[in-house]
Amino acid sequence: MNIGILGTGSVGLTLADKLISIGHVVFIGSRSKTHPKAIEFIEKHPLNCQTGTFEECAKFGAILFNCIAGMVSIEALKLAGAENLANKVLVDVSNPLDFSNGMPPSLSVVNTTSMAETIQSNFPETHVVKALNTMWAGLMVNPNLVEGGDHDTFLAGNNEEAKETVKGILESFGWISKHILDLGDITKARGLEMYLPLWLSIYGANKTGAFNIKIVGV
Ligand SMILES: NC(=O)c1ccc[n+]([C@@H]2O[C@H](COP(=O)([O-])OP(=O)(O)OC[C@H]3O[C@@H](n4cnc5c(N)ncnc54)[C@H](OP(=O)(O)O)[C@@H]3O)[C@@H](O)[C@H]2O)c1
Repeated sequence: MNIGILGTGSVGLTLADKLISIGHVVFIGSRSKTHPKAIEFIEKHPLNCQTGTFEECAKFGAILFNCIAGMVSIEALKLAGAENLANKVLVDVSNPLDFSNGMPPSLSVVNTTSMAETIQSNFPETHVVKALNTMWAGLMVNPNLVEGGDHDTFLAGNNEEAKETVKGILESFGWISKHILDLGDITKARGLEMYLPLWLSIYGANKTGAFNIKIVGV
């Protein structure tokens, strides 16, 4: 499948690497047609990867991943073009982290809304699915790295078919079906994003991003 990765940070390139390794063709989008990190990446994956602008990326992808810094995601998605995002699944991996007052970051949208909802309301014809934002990029594509994959990941979105599509992608990454919890509609992204302050504190204490949460109960 043709997949558009919007973003050239560690999340975008980690997802791109995994998607190529399992047979997809990837387009990495950026503000620039020739982002040095994207160019370096495609030199290592010359057959199944190309790069260009956010707009070209959105046109290319049948499915898109938002791997853009949260606070500028709307700005970047506008560059991608609402018409190129329409009727497509957009997997929103972003977190609305605001570093303007230094560390630790605060959340720029919170409590009664979320970045995923902001994206959904700005792009009503797009099927936004919040996923994978609650963990370090290395774990997103390699759940077996921790406890043999015995831990949980979450989905939130308004479109059931879109969530099934994303679930299939997560399974292809190695996530076990019972560990992919559908929390409900896009408003459930609030909790997923508000987990970030706790994630950052655990990261600070643990000094590694290779951890996750597991839901237990009767
Ligand atoms: N790092 C992780 O392990 C992790 C885990 C979970 C979730 N996340 C979330 O995933 C997203 C990506 O994280 P990341 O660490 O890979 O990368 P990042 O540094 O947060 O974001 C990189 C992307 O943001 C774009 N960007 C920056 N300023 C922009 C602006 N003013 N207008 C438009 N685009 C702009 C960059 O565009 P150019 O390509 O043009 O430079 C680049 O593609 C973030 O929202 C982050 O919170 C990260």
